[in-house]
Amino acid sequence: TSGESRVSCLILIGMMGAGKTTVGRELARRRKVRFADCDQEIVARTGVSIPTIFEIEGEQGFRRRETQMIDELSLEPDIVIATGGGVVTTPTNRALMRGRGVVVYLNVPPQILYERTRHDRNRPLLQVDDPRQRIEELYRQRDPLYREVAHLVIDGGRGNPGTMVRMIENALQKLAQQTL
Ligand code: S3P
Repeated sequence: TSGESRVSCLILIGMMGAGKTTVGRELARRRKVRFADCDQEIVARTGVSIPTIFEIEGEQGFRRRETQMIDELSLEPDIVIATGGGVVTTPTNRALMRGRGVVVYLNVPPQILYERTRHDRNRPLLQVDDPRQRIEELYRQRDPLYREVAHLVIDGGRGNPGTMVRMIENALQKLAQQTL
């Protein structure tokens, strides 16, 4: 079998709107493993939306739940995990993720992230007067953190999900060959 199948836990990181959920679901389907979206798992467990968690517990409360969830999910064998964009802002998560799986950064330019998320009401950090500027700010802060944690950086251009899936599969194959 291809070396690619040896990767047991695949973790997708990147900004809001980068396509982590879409790409992750498709990758999991092709690899015949379970897909888990960290935010959706938190919503399922708490029974309330992400904005509600931010409202009641603040971002800090959300980050605690996120760390707990990443810790649990990344112990599962044969899984593709889509994380929330802010997962790298918690230092414990950075060490945890890098040690538990192959971490893939979906890098998509801020302008495209803005176009994709501009009508979204489900992302508390973007409910500000100038979301475009907010995204640029977050991108500047986080891009170095994503790169620090990632084993693979996928420059997604306009971030077409199908293209990103193929790029990831090719990169994983190369990675497996290198480590044989
Ligand atoms: C966040 C991204 C969101 C969600 C929360 C915070 C962030 O996930 O975890 O709203 O800090 O960038 P997505 O990246 O799936 O939008």
